[in-house]
Parts: sequence; C-alpha cells; structure tokens
Amino acid sequence: MIRGRKILMGVTGSIAAFKAAVLIRLLMKEGAEVKVLMTPLAREFITPLTLASLSRNAVLTDFFNPENGQWNSHVDLGLWADAYVIAPATANTMAKMACGIADNLLLTTYLSARCPVFIAPAMDVDMLNHDTTRKNLDILRSYGNIILEPATGELASGLTGKGRMVEPEVILAALSEFFSNRKKKA
Ligand SMILES: Cc1cc2nc3c(=O)[nH]c(=O)nc-3n(C[C@H](O)[C@H](O)[C@H](O)COP(=O)(O)O)c2cc1C
Repeated sequence: MIRGRKILMGVTGSIAAFKAAVLIRLLMKEGAEVKVLMTPLAREFITPLTLASLSRNAVLTDFFNPENGQWNSHVDLGLWADAYVIAPATANTMAKMACGIADNLLLTTYLSARCPVFIAPAMDVDMLNHDTTRKNLDILRSYGNIILEPATGELASGLTGKGRMVEPEVILAALSEFFSNRKKKA
C-alpha cells in the first residue's frame, strides 16, 4: 500500500529526530518516494546529509537560497505529497501549527498541504501534559490531522511517562492502513 506513494516527512528539533531516519529507511524499502523538510533546529539533532542519503532527495529547510534567489515552493511540496508525516513533532511546532504560524518551510507547507497530515509528537511528559500542549493537540485533531499518540516509557530527560515518539514501524503501519482503507473506498 506504500509502494509509489509520495511521502513528505517533516522533522523538528526533538531528541527523537533519529527515529525519522529509521522511518525514512522503512518507507524507502516499501517503495515510497520520500522528500524531507527540516526545521532549522532539527538540523542540530540529525544531519541533513543522513536524511538526504536515506531519502535520495535533497533535504529542504530554507525558503530560498540568498546566493542565487532560488526558492523552495511550499505550495508545490504540499500538492506533491500523498501524505505529510511530521515526526517527531515538537511542542513548539505543534503550537505554531495550531495557530497558523508559518515562519519556516515545514510550517508553510503544512498550511499549503491538501493531503492528510500525520503528527507524531515527541516530548517530555510534563510538556505533553501541559494544558497548552493538550489544547493544541485537540485543535490539531479537530482540524482533521491524524495524531499518532506518543508512547509511555523512559524519556530522554531521565523521567518516565508519556511522551516517547511512536516507533517508526507503528507510523509505517498507520500509513499502510490509511492508504489501504482509502483504496477500498475508491
Ligand atoms: C537536547 C534537547 C532535546 C529536546 N527535545 C525536545 C523534544 O523531544 N520535544 C520538544 O517538544 N522539544 C524538545 N526540545 C526543545 C526544542 O528543540 C525547542 O522547543 C525548539 O524551539 C524546537 O524548534 P522546532 O519546533 O522549530 O524544531 C529539546 C531541546 C534540547 C536542547
């Protein structure tokens, strides 16, 4: 069900960014076409070189190249994708998505995308439990985004609780199920 699908991956500045590499590898093995967008902070957690190598596509972060004015079209990216998967999704990026802030390429593409959007939050237990984050998650859900609930367990902070990004295999299964249901309905 994944073969030939165009998957746009959005990666944000979480310690779980390494899991994006695993997800991209799984998607590629299943025959998907993958393009990756990173927030500026995400590049501190995992290198664009790693994600570009795995996806076999240049990783995009900037709106434009100041050297030559060449720009990346969020509109084209949003139209290209069959699904947009934001994994990991930080509290910061989800807050911006919930209120329509569009100050990086990942976010402008979110606002432009016509495809289903899957969001895999990853953060510390208290960030996740904060009223603001919970409210933002409710808002994002109410807009039709598919939230892939974080798991409970040991967190990078040393605390234990809910906040671990779901495993890449679970995201792959969710995408597979989504495309399979859509095919059945068509
Ligand atoms: C080591 C480290 C790990 C972090 N992990 C997370 C995380 O898992 N989830 C989260 O919401 N924020 C995390 N943060 C904070 C974000 O990086 C910060 O809010 C940043 O502004 C996110 O930017 P972005 O959403 O544009 O990628 C972490 C920060 C540091 C220094």
